[in-house]
Amino acid sequence: MGLGAGARFTWLGHATFLVETPGRRNLLLDPWVAGNSACPARLRKLPKLDAMLVSHGHFDHIGDTVALAKEHACPVVSNYETACWLKGKGVTTTLEMNKGGTVEVAGVKATMVHADHSCGITDGDAIVYGGEAAGFVVTLENGYRFYFAGDTNLFGDMRLLGEVYKPDLALLPIGGLYTMGPLEASHAVRLLGVKKVIPMHFGTFPALAGKPEELRELCGAKVEVLDLKPGDSVE
Ligand code: NI
Ligand code: MN
Repeated sequence: MGLGAGARFTWLGHATFLVETPGRRNLLLDPWVAGNSACPARLRKLPKLDAMLVSHGHFDHIGDTVALAKEHACPVVSNYETACWLKGKGVTTTLEMNKGGTVEVAGVKATMVHADHSCGITDGDAIVYGGEAAGFVVTLENGYRFYFAGDTNLFGDMRLLGEVYKPDLALLPIGGLYTMGPLEASHAVRLLGVKKVIPMHFGTFPALAGKPEELRELCGAKVEVLDLKPGDSVE
């Protein structure tokens, strides 16, 4: 089972991925490592990061962003409001944007796209407005393109994402409860027109009950559902 991406995707569990790009840069998606019980111990020490992408401000996506930004001094891509919050925590390398925009970072192009989700940032006892949750379409140096959905429900404009960006791969949440489950994700696959999917945001907690085999069954034989375990890599 392979992607043919010329890049290595390592799932750190939940929604956190380390992507080693064809240009040998390290990209971290939704940095949640220290508190992420699904992340294998051997992967908690990360290689030198060249950029981070943050889909939204929930703790299980932004959890280690402040610490890692200070350690690695690399650009942190997020929406404007979340970037303002990060700046308030001493992050000096924010790269703020909003939906429809594209930034070039660590040799790749990251386009922020819609997600149907919420985005409150837990800050002490308060919930701080974090802008709107988003996803990213990332184009690697070699043209390979993947869609990282972040946390989202199914939405009809995923068809547009398929038409406009023609992603080679989709990273989709399937756990249910806080995001779509396998049924909704199977329709996301259809709307996006992707043939390869990496499921995420399941199994971390018992409540995130959706399973890759359910998605595989619903999608049929023409779609490759990669059933990674936390710590697994695929190229
Ligand atoms: Ni969330
Ligand atoms: Mn989440």
